Amino acid sequence: MPHLVAASLLAADFGNLQRDINMLNHSQADWFHVDIMDGSFVPNFSIGTPVIEAIRKHALKPLDVHLMIREPERYISHFVQLGANILTFHIEATNHVNRLIQVIKQSGIKAGISLNPHTPVCLLENILPDVDVVLIMSVNPGFGGQKFIPSVYDKIRKLNQMRKAIGAGFLIEVDGGVDEQNAPLLIECGVDILVAGHTIFSSAQPEKTILNLKNCRNRAE
Ligand code: DX5
Ligand code: ZN
Repeated sequence: MPHLVAASLLAADFGNLQRDINMLNHSQADWFHVDIMDGSFVPNFSIGTPVIEAIRKHALKPLDVHLMIREPERYISHFVQLGANILTFHIEATNHVNRLIQVIKQSGIKAGISLNPHTPVCLLENILPDVDVVLIMSVNPGFGGQKFIPSVYDKIRKLNQMRKAIGAGFLIEVDGGVDEQNAPLLIECGVDILVAGHTIFSSAQPEKTILNLKNCRNRAE
């Protein structure tokens, strides 16, 4: 499968959100990445219900919702109703990983699990056969525009090996500090979905930048 690009709206111009959404609709981006922060699991807030409704109304591509909230079990049905197509929560934020994965999948959408930079992939061993997506944070979550943490390359290689060993079909997503320089190596390590915020929205030619991210083909099959 060719890799996907998920554009992180956190870096969009919220004063011109419809314009930025339309740009993504016309671009080669595959998913809209929507970051939800609660000011507790991460030291920042992002967007809430009315803005997500506006995004859903205008976005013509799947919504990849990344929950950075404590006890995500409180809000799974809320985000399903808001129109999430992929719903990802953090392993560090709940004691009920297996149950939440089942609840999300029973809602008819894809379920993802995310890991902070310090959390080892071995913790995923018993949940990998059940998940659709594993989102590896390559910065400490909470803010856009941070510097990529290079130890993540090895982490992704390890996860890719685990995937091959059990023959699982989940997708590997990387989020934070992704740019045109590190994207080829990330793909080579096994990444299926590149999340990019600042790289896209701070570009003078965002659609071209998306195309460049889509076209890095250093994939070792
Ligand atoms: C950070 C968010 C990311 C963020 C990525 O907590 O999860 O999705 O928007 O932004 P960039 O690509 O700017 O690092
Ligand atoms: Zn994110």
